[in-house]
Amino acid sequence: MTRQVELVLAPIRGITDCYFRSLFHQHFPGFDSSLAPFINPQRHSSFQPKQLKDILPANNRLLPVVPQLLNTNVDDFLFLASRLHELGYKEINWNLGCPAPMVTIKHRGSGLLPFPEQIITFLDHVVPKLPMALSIKTRLGYEDKNELLSLLPRLDDYPLTEIIIHARLGNQLYKGKTDRESFGLCLDASKHPIVYNGDITSVQKFLELEQQFPEIQKWMIGRGALANPFLAGEIKNLDDSDRPARLLSFHDELYSYYRELLSGQAHLLGRMKQLWVYLSTFFPPEKKTWKKIKKCRTEHQYQHVVTELFKALRSYSE
Ligand SMILES: Cc1cc2nc3c(=O)[nH]c(=O)nc-3n(C[C@H](O)[C@H](O)[C@H](O)COP(=O)(O)O)c2cc1C
Repeated sequence: MTRQVELVLAPIRGITDCYFRSLFHQHFPGFDSSLAPFINPQRHSSFQPKQLKDILPANNRLLPVVPQLLNTNVDDFLFLASRLHELGYKEINWNLGCPAPMVTIKHRGSGLLPFPEQIITFLDHVVPKLPMALSIKTRLGYEDKNELLSLLPRLDDYPLTEIIIHARLGNQLYKGKTDRESFGLCLDASKHPIVYNGDITSVQKFLELEQQFPEIQKWMIGRGALANPFLAGEIKNLDDSDRPARLLSFHDELYSYYRELLSGQAHLLGRMKQLWVYLSTFFPPEKKTWKKIKKCRTEHQYQHVVTELFKALRSYSE
């Protein structure tokens, strides 16, 4: 029997662009929607059309997507929001979780969490003028797990659709353990629907989390789905047949797509390697797989290595 849960594909900048999201959904059903990687903040209220390419409705017909903004400047945020509204978006997401030092140093992303007054002032200015709904993606704090906990009751006053919480601190980047206990406290401290995010890497982990937080209706998965593209389908008990063949056709379609799109093999291989950082897990032994892929300098080498890896995967799964 299929399991009824709502799963969202997390934004992973540099990997989950619109082509990836569509292809991924075609080959590995299981996700109900996705959040787009953040749109670059602009210094002035203008941006190139190509920066919106990733969230143009024409490029997102298969898997519903919510655009994400990283801006903390009220005018720039509202300007971009109105463009997104013109494109037909009914919801946008504010990134309050990015941990990259060049972002946090400017008090953006998770770097804004130690400054709750700035968050409240921003929302006070933005929310009344926003032509669509707003959700937030955030962390437990930047360096203190009480940062989000004490902010959450104040966020009850705003009509947010949901708050997605990656159960880590900003200064952990993507390392160290997720903090389920602090996540649980946050869950109790908010009236908004909360989405869990962080280290769902297997069905077993998902089930543990579901047992611990039965009130959670919606789950976001990023790296776990890149490492095992079948994970969302496994969680929902969907058809699981023909894995190596499905993975190979996904890979080949993605590769051909980027081959057309990107200029030069360095770009192409760089792009594919970003995915293999995670996908190598699917090809045990993981470390050897990653080493082989990492070494590839030409398309010829890459194609040869990938052919061998898939051959081994097929005979391993038979
Ligand atoms: C390389 C990379 C890029 C990311 N880009 C974004 C982004 O653009 N916006 C965002 O909200 N989160 C971004 N994240 C965070 C993920 O969406 C997610 O919150 C995090 O990886 C934890 O979930 P996971 O353990 O399921 O991957 C990124 C993470 C990584 C590793």
